Amino acid sequence: MRMVDIISRKRDGFELSNEEITWFVQAYSNGDIPDYQASAFAMAVFFQGMTQKEAAALTIEMAGSGDQLDLSAIDGIKVDKHSTGGVGDKTTLILGPLVAALDIPVAKMSGRGLGHTGGTIDKLEAFEGFRTEMDQEDFVHLVNKNKLAVAGQSGNLTPADKKLYALRDVTGTVNSIPLIASSVMSKKIAAGADAIVLDVKTGSGAFMESLEEAKKLAYAMVDIGNSLNRRTMAVISNMDQPLGHFVGNALEVKEAVETLRGNGPEDLHELSVTLASHMAVLGGKATDEKEGRKLVESVLNDGTALEKMKQFVQSQGGNPAPIDNSDLFPAAEKQAAVTAQESGYVSRMQAARIGQAAMMLGAGRASKDDEIDYAAGIELKAKIGDYAAAGDTLAVIHATQADTTSAADMIRQAYSFSPQQVKKPALIYDSI
Ligand code: URA
Repeated sequence: MRMVDIISRKRDGFELSNEEITWFVQAYSNGDIPDYQASAFAMAVFFQGMTQKEAAALTIEMAGSGDQLDLSAIDGIKVDKHSTGGVGDKTTLILGPLVAALDIPVAKMSGRGLGHTGGTIDKLEAFEGFRTEMDQEDFVHLVNKNKLAVAGQSGNLTPADKKLYALRDVTGTVNSIPLIASSVMSKKIAAGADAIVLDVKTGSGAFMESLEEAKKLAYAMVDIGNSLNRRTMAVISNMDQPLGHFVGNALEVKEAVETLRGNGPEDLHELSVTLASHMAVLGGKATDEKEGRKLVESVLNDGTALEKMKQFVQSQGGNPAPIDNSDLFPAAEKQAAVTAQESGYVSRMQAARIGQAAMMLGAGRASKDDEIDYAAGIELKAKIGDYAAAGDTLAVIHATQADTTSAADMIRQAYSFSPQQVKKPALIYDSI
């Protein structure tokens, strides 16, 4: 086979065969295809798209390019969840214990944060001593014991995707629905779950800013998952503003714990319960979402899920004491209010800017070797639909560093106001 023929066929809108896709992924991974040909291929896909069959072939080949987790020694249907990324999204910390409390095994591989979105592992490491490096045997043992474990992504998971994604990042080809869908799904397939619930975000803080594009991405991922024998469904949720009221690692864990106590903010509670209910269905414990919700609410209300959180943190070496006494979480030395400069109803919040401000405060990484400040972050006092008079506090910065002016400016820039009352945005648009 010749790469130039594959590029030309894709450029001209033909469907590639499984053999052609397999050959491309293997040859590119081995270094036999230069970046300039792989980028021409990615650009041809960007303009011509891919059929469902092509996207599934790309997914399976990238999933097989490195380590694949074998979770067969875990009893029960292993259900995974994936979010396409958002600001203040700490749902994994809530739905993990909720679903595990229903006796459904949650074997989660998670990543660290980069840029304006945070990573689950960074959040969990706000618990002193918490560790996510473990071999497959320990991982399987923990899931069988607690029904919940979170491990760091192995260095050799989907190397073909890593290489292609890095290339897409510098060739203007990230925003292609089939390429995003196969990239995400290759990692999910390699991580070994039997069933997958996807949370596809749409809005100012998401990859897919429009609902229409988010739906297309959701359908593409659901089709790939189902065609590869993983029961897959997607919820499309709003990311026009951060989820909950806190952004930053320890602050988000604290909010997740409050949600498990039944005292969480409405949006975070609702999205976590919805996703957990779908996981209960795919995990075989409920016949529909309504029944799943009943089960999830029962383990939330009777404290079983909160106990599960403690057990999980302790089993992974973390000190669970802050769960009962939140004063023990890492706390920032300095708190500074960001005030409104005009009066009005909050009409827009650019979630990505809030994420960037949190990163500037040390809560996230600008580049992958940056150190995290677990205590740093932002508390959002005003969200879309709320009224603020000039001088009112919009947000509170939690920081160690002395100069917080640029982060405060960034937060202010994230807000827009309207003199007219503004409706609170819907949280969940659809499920697929
Ligand atoms: N996240 C991924 O993992 N892959 C993409 O292509 C885009 C977002």
